[in-house]
Amino acid sequence: MGSEKETIKRSLTNIGQEDYYIRGIEGWNKMASPTSRPEPALSWLDSAIRVKPLQLADSWKKQQVEDALKKIHLTGAQVLRIKEVFHSEVERGIHEQPSSLQMENTYIPELPNGTEEGMFLALDLGGTNFRVILLELSNGALIRENVKRYHIREELRLGCGERLFDFLAECVSDFVRSQNLGGTRLPLGFTFSFPMIQKGLDVGILLTWTKSFNCPSVVGRDAVQMLREAINRRGDTHVEVLAVLNDTTGTLIQGAVLDKKTAIALILGTGSNACYIERADRVQHWEGQRHGEKEVIIDIEWGAFGDNGVLDFIKTDYDRKVDENSLITNSFTFEKYISGKYLGEIVRVIVVKLVEDCVLFGGTVSDALLTTGAFTTSFVSLIEQDTVGNNCENTPEILDKLGLSYNADDIAIMKYICETVSNRAALLVSICTATLLERLDRPDTTIAVDGSLYKYHPRLKSWMNKYIHLLAPEKKFKLLLAEDGSGKGAGLVAAIALRLKQRFSQT
Ligand code: BGC
Repeated sequence: MGSEKETIKRSLTNIGQEDYYIRGIEGWNKMASPTSRPEPALSWLDSAIRVKPLQLADSWKKQQVEDALKKIHLTGAQVLRIKEVFHSEVERGIHEQPSSLQMENTYIPELPNGTEEGMFLALDLGGTNFRVILLELSNGALIRENVKRYHIREELRLGCGERLFDFLAECVSDFVRSQNLGGTRLPLGFTFSFPMIQKGLDVGILLTWTKSFNCPSVVGRDAVQMLREAINRRGDTHVEVLAVLNDTTGTLIQGAVLDKKTAIALILGTGSNACYIERADRVQHWEGQRHGEKEVIIDIEWGAFGDNGVLDFIKTDYDRKVDENSLITNSFTFEKYISGKYLGEIVRVIVVKLVEDCVLFGGTVSDALLTTGAFTTSFVSLIEQDTVGNNCENTPEILDKLGLSYNADDIAIMKYICETVSNRAALLVSICTATLLERLDRPDTTIAVDGSLYKYHPRLKSWMNKYIHLLAPEKKFKLLLAEDGSGKGAGLVAAIALRLKQRFSQT
């Protein structure tokens, strides 16, 4: 089953958009030809998603900026089309048909039930810092948490994968020693926030790296096995890796502890992803024995949405440029529209174009502005803070930092670009979240969210509340910040894994 899925993934990269339509998604066949359906009247949606127009006295400049950003503004018709495409990709993915969505079975069929007890280790790998965490649980509640962070140097993130895993094992040893737990048997949950093909709760085959990692030699290998081997090579700890999970899954578990209605989780940070609780009978990819599970958490890996071309109708030249400048090109299309690793870069690419057209900064660029990655998403959030607060504190400071000379028009244009790019991200996330809400047969759902973009962007949350409501009007929902699911959630998943292991060994 797993290898079949891998072949599918590989062949998908070779399927062009047209071919994809021909292979057929029912709805898409109807939509493929623009003449086959009348364009729906969507003025209500167009106006609901529109950002405030740019105010500039110079009408030439205003026109230039509007033309440059025209394609970043989604239309109501595009929004509905994305919703249909996402729905269709979810359906195809869950039925193991070609789809850009992995819809991975996490093999986690239940949530914490308040009986979790004892000491657990959690590992969190996904960003430039690796965390090792000791969690002590009593009746499902966290009573102790000790954390240590280890910086992962670039040469490890972009080098030989075996060395990376040796480094992780070295950190585990260091941590266990520092806690005087050398002789203690410790169940471990491993948060590995990259796309994996899961063949069980403790088997995760790395499909591709994302964000700031690229160690090609270990793609296609099992992250748990590599970790176990590295730990065994050292032989100085007694940890038992019971589960591998994604940060989104950890967030859902952590969300469920905070609010029992949690059934969807999102990560909006450097990378982006979502997971949700699916009916087990709808899930086709299930290796090993089923044990009468009613539900299971599905890791969507929505960062890859559109990698097969189904989102090409919204791709702009700026998005193409951002992809060209990225670590792994032609991969993680959706993540490159919405996540913290890329929003600042989209803004930078647009700004460079407007400088070249002599619309911004009197046509004079700075070296910093020409550097990929120099305009971070934290700048976008800070400039957005100025817009939301109707002031002008952060924007000039950022432009100074980038070595640019500016006037009041430049500031207004910078604010408008950041708003437009952020708004598109909020809309895209909301479209997919609304589609998931509609998929769940629940009257009231809590959506657990974590990630730096969500936490620090001043109005992502309010836009999401508005757009999700607009796109799934029948559904009651709440966005809940569930911090550190990749740490606490991993400990809880290790406890659930232990419970399942004991239960299944008795049957
Ligand atoms: C990874 C996901 C992860 C997300 C958020 C993406 O790049 O592919 O597995 O959940 O980032 O960290």
